[in-house]
Amino acid sequence: MARLSSPVRIGDLTVPNRLYRAPLLECAGNGDGAVDDLIDALEPAAAAGAGLICQGATVVRGEGGCAAPGMTRVHDPAFVADCTRLTDRLHDHGSTVAIQLEHGGLRSMETWHAEYRRANPELQQLAVSRPPPPLRALDRLGFLSYDPHVLSTAEVYDLAADFGRAAGYAADAGYDLIHLAGANMGIVHQFLSPFYNRRDDEFGDGVRFLDAVHDAVRAHAGDVPLLTKVPAETAAPPVVRRRLSREDTVDVCRRLADIGYDALVPVSGSVFWDMSIVRGAYPARAWHDEQFRAGYAAAFGGRLRAGLVALANRAESWWYDFDPAWNADLCRRVRDAVSVPVLCEGGIRDRSHIDALLGDACDMVGMARPFYAEPELPARLLADDRASAVCDSCNNCAVPQVTGAPGVCRTPAVLDEVGRLRKAGAYDRD
Ligand SMILES: Cc1cc2nc3c(=O)[nH]c(=O)nc-3n(C[C@H](O)[C@H](O)[C@H](O)COP(=O)(O)O)c2cc1C
Ligand code: SF4
Repeated sequence: MARLSSPVRIGDLTVPNRLYRAPLLECAGNGDGAVDDLIDALEPAAAAGAGLICQGATVVRGEGGCAAPGMTRVHDPAFVADCTRLTDRLHDHGSTVAIQLEHGGLRSMETWHAEYRRANPELQQLAVSRPPPPLRALDRLGFLSYDPHVLSTAEVYDLAADFGRAAGYAADAGYDLIHLAGANMGIVHQFLSPFYNRRDDEFGDGVRFLDAVHDAVRAHAGDVPLLTKVPAETAAPPVVRRRLSREDTVDVCRRLADIGYDALVPVSGSVFWDMSIVRGAYPARAWHDEQFRAGYAAAFGGRLRAGLVALANRAESWWYDFDPAWNADLCRRVRDAVSVPVLCEGGIRDRSHIDALLGDACDMVGMARPFYAEPELPARLLADDRASAVCDSCNNCAVPQVTGAPGVCRTPAVLDEVGRLRKAGAYDRD
């Protein structure tokens, strides 16, 4: 029987238990202290017993492609080699560690971040196809700024090779798994999505891109286990006709397992970068915090536009209300169709729920935002089968990141509760 504390195999790797830290931006960048910041962000989860730690998305090219401020780039072998200090530290605690590889494509900061766009006017967005009409309309209204470069067939192979090269550097630096940022509207998602992908070459079948990335990873990183998020676009508004249904996603997963992907993380969301992937409350505290107002205005092109984005955020929080384990049903369907491990994340908070999901909907269970609130959360979840994460999915941690602020819990009541638990010894381990 699959229990939280029992090991699981992914490819040739044995992960010591079934609890993982889902990819969550560390906002460490590439500056002098970047690797130390990564260690500070990730080591507590390892020390607290997480079986697998997924570092947040890192960008495979040296220019463009960052979806948010502070993302780490992994195109430079010297920088990635220094991450050996991180992987060694996490291995010392018995954890395994995945690096997530990403390129933002049409979701990159050069599309949506006004100040960054002004500072980098020459940057074009890598595009699978011409941006779809609703996004072009947002460009005309001034909310987005497109100067897309649609990739030729040869350039798609070059991009796949960049993913492979970065995977090779990561494997040399001791990462145990390569994780593709295949969802959340980055360029891998854009290949898979019929909303974005209207190509008439071989990559018109988006799975072909993941096939090419798989081959490039194998060429550079050998048999290091490879996993990817796989999107379903079920949360998209009904007016978006061309999108990935649950059935499409199950079929994509079946094909990826046949290609040689060692594990899959099915996640449902929309075709836009909205709150469908971080369901929860409207982060009123974050929007009204005076210290971030100037940063919001810089990011969104003025106070009025920032106010409109906040309004849209409020509407999304009604539309995408918190739903416990919102990807469980999708994961269960994928698990019935493939024989590789399926990882489930999104709104999972209670140990009792985790125990019910394991062996039914999935083989491993992950959490993201709860790790901002409780970096040592695994200590509680592994020790107590009645434990629950204290994170209340309010999203106050997420919005300030557009200003370059670090990813930390920003809700006093939650932090007070964490302090109380710490005093009571809840994170102490034998
Ligand atoms: C601030 C923030 C940053 C995130 N960064 C990433 C990322 O880098 N890569 C990724 O695949 N998902 C990312 N996610 C999505 C999470 O991995 C996770 O799927 C989502 O937050 C739902 O899980 P949760 O309810 O446990 O937070 C991020 C989510 C948040 C809130
Ligand atoms: S601010 Fe804290 S409580 Fe709110 S979602 Fe983020 S981590 Fe959870």
